[in-house]
Amino acid sequence: MVLRPLRTLPPTADAPIADAWLERIAASLADPTLDRARFCREVLCELAYPHYVADWATAVHDAAVPLGTRLALAALDPRNVTLEPEYYAECDDEKFQRVKPLLWLWYSFDRLPLAGQNVDLGVRFRRLLAPHIFKRCGERFKAFQHVEFSFGYNMEVGDDVVVHRHVLLDDRGGIVMGNKVSVSDYANIYSHTHSIVDQVDVTNAVTVLEDGVRITYHATVLAGVRVCTEGMVGASAVATKDVRAYHVNVGIPAKSVRVKPNAPSGTADRLSTSADRGE
Ligand SMILES: CC(C)(COP(=O)(O)OP(=O)(O)OC[C@H]1O[C@@H](n2cnc3c(N)ncnc32)[C@H](O)[C@@H]1OP(=O)(O)O)[C@@H](O)C(=O)NCCC(=O)NCCS
Repeated sequence: MVLRPLRTLPPTADAPIADAWLERIAASLADPTLDRARFCREVLCELAYPHYVADWATAVHDAAVPLGTRLALAALDPRNVTLEPEYYAECDDEKFQRVKPLLWLWYSFDRLPLAGQNVDLGVRFRRLLAPHIFKRCGERFKAFQHVEFSFGYNMEVGDDVVVHRHVLLDDRGGIVMGNKVSVSDYANIYSHTHSIVDQVDVTNAVTVLEDGVRITYHATVLAGVRVCTEGMVGASAVATKDVRAYHVNVGIPAKSVRVKPNAPSGTADRLSTSADRGE
């Protein structure tokens, strides 16, 4: 075994600019009267179309500006786009319209040359947005690029949670993550499912990843599954049923192949009960 903790890198030359920009973002988000749609549009316009910052509204309606440019400018305002969850029958419009500008900002930011794979800036920026989107967000939340949500407002996240690139967090029925949960690249966590007979028959069920859980690369966790403390879902597995504490489940459907050697005696080999969880 080789221990390879992450290295610390020296600050990049633009660090003071990034710090100042992030401070400005944080200050805006802290203002309860913030017009989030306008904020989203202004942030994106400054980053993507700086030439139009002063006269965005004029340019959108200016026949002399190419149609595609007008469309692209208009789409900086989240009120001019629709997101998939808005079509869901159970979407809570009041909650969703409140978080939608920040989701649109998150997704759009990730597609800019400035952002995307720019780890330090991206992680710090998303860490500012997350508490204003989620139902609950713990300390030191870390999300890499191209993470997607359903509603966003149905996410409950503990401390020291890491979500890697291209992860789908479908919180339609709700996702609850404990502390120190890690979700690896290209994993999918679902909390809704469809009837095999009638596609519009949708069941929402809260999916729970307890403390210390690791969902590894390309794995999928289906709606309503509970992965218990320190449980692990192997690469490309599909967890269709609960995963016992400290168990490593692999394959499709995911089954236990081992118990982690650090399992305290008596805690593994069973699912956590509501009493364990203090419920
Ligand atoms: C889940 C995982 C950690 C299991 O590793 P492990 O405990 O060392 O398990 P082993 O390699 O001894 O495998 C045990 C058995 O499960 C099988 N297996 C292991 N991982 C599997 C997977 N992802 N899918 C299907 N079968 C798998 C092995 O072939 C072996 O089967 P066998 O006994 O018939 O030979 C590993 O396979 C995995 O998926 N790693 C993903 C990468 C990772 O570590 N991510 C960490 C978070 S970023």
